[in-house]
Amino acid sequence: MRVLLADYPRERWGEPTLAEMARFWLGVHENFRRHYAHMVAIADHWRNGHSDLRGLHGRLIPSVDQFLQHLDMHHRIESGQYFPIFRRIEPRIAHGVDLLDRDHDAVHADLEALLQAAVAFHQDIQTDAPAAGDTASRLADVLNAMGPRVLRHLHDEEEIVIPLIATRADEIG
Ligand SMILES: [Fe+2]
Ligand SMILES: [Fe+2]
Repeated sequence: MRVLLADYPRERWGEPTLAEMARFWLGVHENFRRHYAHMVAIADHWRNGHSDLRGLHGRLIPSVDQFLQHLDMHHRIESGQYFPIFRRIEPRIAHGVDLLDRDHDAVHADLEALLQAAVAFHQDIQTDAPAAGDTASRLADVLNAMGPRVLRHLHDEEEIVIPLIATRADEIG
């Protein structure tokens, strides 16, 4: 499924001739990696005793909210708009694209869990619930647990999709 990677290996992705659309795709993924690391850093800051629950709430909830919206939208556009085009113009990667689609479902379950954990923490803070520390811990756990799946998906998708875009951008439009 990484059939095209040999023709266009990762070492070449930094070349100035890389198609604009491929550069954009990599940039969007890099933003997700940075955003994820930022949320983990906020949670760690609290876990290490450098901020209180209200500080954690004020910084983490807006960041989680944005992450959920952006990643959900990103996957919708990929699965709904681009993956069908990729399958059509290059049947050799169709199987790989199917796996990426399944990744989206798995990551979506992670996003659901993150939403639930964030809502629970937000409600506990709003109501001054004594359990707020526990729900904050749970939120941080959910955040850590989803990391490997999300980051792995970004990596795998790039290896299947970037060589195709880099060489056939004109057919994708
Ligand atoms: Fe994706
Ligand atoms: Fe993506």
